[in-house]
Amino acid sequence: MHRRFIVPGALGAASLMLAIPASAAAHSPGAPGIGDPYYPAYGNGGYDVSHYDLRLKYQPATDRLEGTATILARTTEDLSRFNLDFLLDVGEVRVNGAKAAFTTSGEQELEITPKKPLDKDTPLTVVVRYSGVPSSKEAFGFTSWHRTPDGGVGANEPEAAAWWFPSNDHPLDKATYDVSVQVPDGTQAISNGTLQSTSSRLGWTRWNWRSDKPQATYLTTLAIGKFDLTTGTTESGIPVVNAYSEDLGANDGAARASVERTGEVADWLSDYFGPYPFNALGGYVPNTTTGYALETQTRPFYSPRQFANGSNVSVVVHELAHQWYGDLVSVRGWKDIWINEGFARYAQWLWSEHEGEGTAQELADYTYASHPADDAFWTVKPGDPGPENQFDGAVYDRGALAVQVLRNEIGDDAFFTVLKGWPAKYAHGNASVADFRRYAEEVSGKPLAALFDTWLFQPSKPDAPAASARSL
Ligand code: ARG
Ligand code: ZN
Repeated sequence: MHRRFIVPGALGAASLMLAIPASAAAHSPGAPGIGDPYYPAYGNGGYDVSHYDLRLKYQPATDRLEGTATILARTTEDLSRFNLDFLLDVGEVRVNGAKAAFTTSGEQELEITPKKPLDKDTPLTVVVRYSGVPSSKEAFGFTSWHRTPDGGVGANEPEAAAWWFPSNDHPLDKATYDVSVQVPDGTQAISNGTLQSTSSRLGWTRWNWRSDKPQATYLTTLAIGKFDLTTGTTESGIPVVNAYSEDLGANDGAARASVERTGEVADWLSDYFGPYPFNALGGYVPNTTTGYALETQTRPFYSPRQFANGSNVSVVVHELAHQWYGDLVSVRGWKDIWINEGFARYAQWLWSEHEGEGTAQELADYTYASHPADDAFWTVKPGDPGPENQFDGAVYDRGALAVQVLRNEIGDDAFFTVLKGWPAKYAHGNASVADFRRYAEEVSGKPLAALFDTWLFQPSKPDAPAASARSL
């Protein structure tokens, strides 16, 4: 109550109005983007979400999704209106209990105008009732909802949420989630975190999933289809739930031979990165033709295509490495993608070494030697690749090479201290490449600006690093 004395209008006192600048009295629209130069429309300004409650119903036969999102947030500005990022059809919006006006704009903006302007730093509850066919929606020329023969999957980076729930769609605004989805009996709904319960009535089964650690919107996933679930526990005591489409065909064995090793891999990674940061774990493999895998929090998404040549534990290592590098500590802006992909690739190199398939140093040397100076590979700057090259192979491979160069420069003691210390330092938050450099400088006591500039920010092949040169 006390702080309301600084809010004009709350008291209706003209004398108080005079005491404060006119600009402070104005409630204005929240920005339609959170301020990421790579993706100006992603996320929104003016509020901070703490929790999403999604209560949905999905019909696999028609790909129709309907339900209610209840979003708990707090305003960070005086707002006359604000946006969510969303693509499906909205039937009703309520803000703090009262029906609100809404309209759509741009590629994915849902503009909400509450009855009464919202004061800065006050609780905000938004209820959005909606429905639609996610696979029919396109934004920016593509869809992140993948239809499968028996359902659908929402998984993509840097964006997937807008196809199935309204959100502040940027990793800077993490929140906890309850995802509850009703599907026809005999069908499964897979999401992040812990399966709290399932219940069936009237021919429909409701699946209740909970993520109680902060989670970025793009790391929040939903897959519906006929899945076989397996359960287990890691040596360190984390419950594991994996899910395999019943229709993986010839890839079924290789998929299971890889993803069933999730617990073992997470325990192995924790030696390098610190304790596994979440309380649920697993992986899921839907029957999709999508090419990529994705580090959806606690439960990565794998495409059957990753297992077309037999087992591929390396991709499991990659997606689980992201649980620390990407999920626990997320990018500040999408230009910081090196912290995700460079380190997830480097974890694969460490796994290769562990498996006797080539050391990290050998793989770094190979990466350096196998790309001649005129290869376009060197034109992609892992430290600032641009949105068009965000997931270019160079971000991964040049990125991991830079990690090996850093390791050789600061020595193994400092390097492995950094590798483990970083996830703890920024746990559940966001950080940038510059934050990483400062942290590595602090731990090692060495200036690293030149090394970072050469290996992450130059569009050309650097001179051979001393430690790699010996085997070139
Ligand atoms: N972070 C994902 C991975 O490295 C990459 C996702 C790429 N996304 C895409 N639309 N190509 O596993
Ligand atoms: Zn990755």
